[in-house]
Amino acid sequence: MLAIVVLLGAAFYQVDRYSVRMYYEELSQRLNASLAMYVVNAEPLISGGQVDDEALSELAGRAMVINPTAEIYLLGADGTILGHAFPPEEIVVDRIDTGPILDLLSESRPLPIKGVDPREPGSRRIFSAFPVVDPEDTNGDAGYLYVVLGGTHYEVVAAQVSGSDKQRMVAAGIVLLMLAAFVAATLLFSFLTRRLRKLTADVTEFTEPHPEMNNPIDGVAQPRDEIDQLRNACHFMASTIQQQMSSLQENDRLRRELVTNISHDLRTPLTTMQGYIETLIIKDETLDAVTRRQYLDTACKHAAHLGRLIQDLFELAMFDSGSATPVFEEFSLTELIHDVAQEFRLQADEAQVSLQIDPPDEAVSAYADISLIQRVLENLVGNALKYTPRGGKVSISVRPSSAAVGVSVADTGAGISEQALPRIFDRFYRENGDADEGNGSMGLGLAIAKRILELHGSEIRVTSEERRGTRFDFDLPLQARAA
Ligand SMILES: Nc1ncnc2c1ncn2[C@@H]1O[C@H](COP(=O)(O)OP(=O)(O)OP(=O)(O)O)[C@@H](O)[C@H]1O
Ligand SMILES: [Mg+2]
Repeated sequence: MLAIVVLLGAAFYQVDRYSVRMYYEELSQRLNASLAMYVVNAEPLISGGQVDDEALSELAGRAMVINPTAEIYLLGADGTILGHAFPPEEIVVDRIDTGPILDLLSESRPLPIKGVDPREPGSRRIFSAFPVVDPEDTNGDAGYLYVVLGGTHYEVVAAQVSGSDKQRMVAAGIVLLMLAAFVAATLLFSFLTRRLRKLTADVTEFTEPHPEMNNPIDGVAQPRDEIDQLRNACHFMASTIQQQMSSLQENDRLRRELVTNISHDLRTPLTTMQGYIETLIIKDETLDAVTRRQYLDTACKHAAHLGRLIQDLFELAMFDSGSATPVFEEFSLTELIHDVAQEFRLQADEAQVSLQIDPPDEAVSAYADISLIQRVLENLVGNALKYTPRGGKVSISVRPSSAAVGVSVADTGAGISEQALPRIFDRFYRENGDADEGNGSMGLGLAIAKRILELHGSEIRVTSEERRGTRFDFDLPLQARAA
């Protein structure tokens, strides 16, 4: 910007000098328009085709008195220099172009009109001219009186003036104007860039809630100014929108998958149940009491399964919608764990798996929603028993610390493969896929446990080694947290 201002200042100075010169030349040519005429009318300069040199040099002297820059020449009709008052060696050409003289006399062009300076044929100067008549030869003009104005003399005087106070004042004025323009432009720029910066901040703020998505697609690596920054912010925004779009698409895909899974899982027990009941109706008479009882048991088992599935789905939907808020209260965690162990005792004995509580008798309390935590423990212990073979061990342990109590459910069962580990908390995820369907697994238990603990501000962690066992860990608050 400074460069532009300086360039503009220099250009302005040049234009000023040029226009001053043009103005001077026009003015000077106008003022001296009749100078040549006076000289011509003063005395005949040519008579009988002969140049009167004496009269010419005398008139030249007089003209110089009127205008010291005037240089007088007598020209023939074709522009040949017939006479002048200079030493002969100073005149370089012997003929000059009469075009500008005719232009001036006929006033066919606006002033200033410039003609050749015979002493310096390369440069052009303003002049005054008038036709010269030979009194003894009346058929036409004998030539012209050609007065070069401001010849070399003008240059000398102009050079003297160029260092004057006036010139310096003009220069200082221009510099001051340039400074003022620079200051004004700087203010304007800072005003504009401040607004740009604000815009950048706004756009950046838009992307800030997801800082992990702030990967510029192809932003400027090292922003140099606010506009680069704005461009980067726009790129950030674009990439955020892009990622949000793909996460929306992924969500949509998951939702479709979920619906397919749900309908599949609901349909299987329903059709089985329907099949048994229909058989019972059709073959009512022919069935013996034991088979009938068997059919009824199977139908009942599938109805219970269906009920559990619907209950699980309902719970998950409630947790997701946020309409389920845990009711926090202080309760005895030890007692709860004993109750849950009691619930599974029979199942454990049947499976010949030992179910232990560690430490067995320490009284530990927690601050949480008791029925939801019971649900978590049931899911975890249920899984542990389900996936632990005969002779294995399942243990529930509590480790109170100053701020929280750590709960873990560990088993010595089959373990979970490394690939499956990150997915076990997904809805409908079962490591063995459809093979688990027969034993009533739906892959919802861990998803529910995870959501419940999230509602408690806690996180469920899992460590597992194949064929060695699995262990789930989570923390519960000991007391109500200060709001
Ligand atoms: N203790 C465990 N040992 C080995 N694998 C486990 C254990 N707990 C969970 N898993 C694996 O994680 C998967 C998901 O468990 P989750 O409790 O969500 O579903 P599920 O037990 O199969 O069915 P549901 O709990 O809905 O009846 C299980 O299918 C199983 O493969
Ligand atoms: Mg389960």
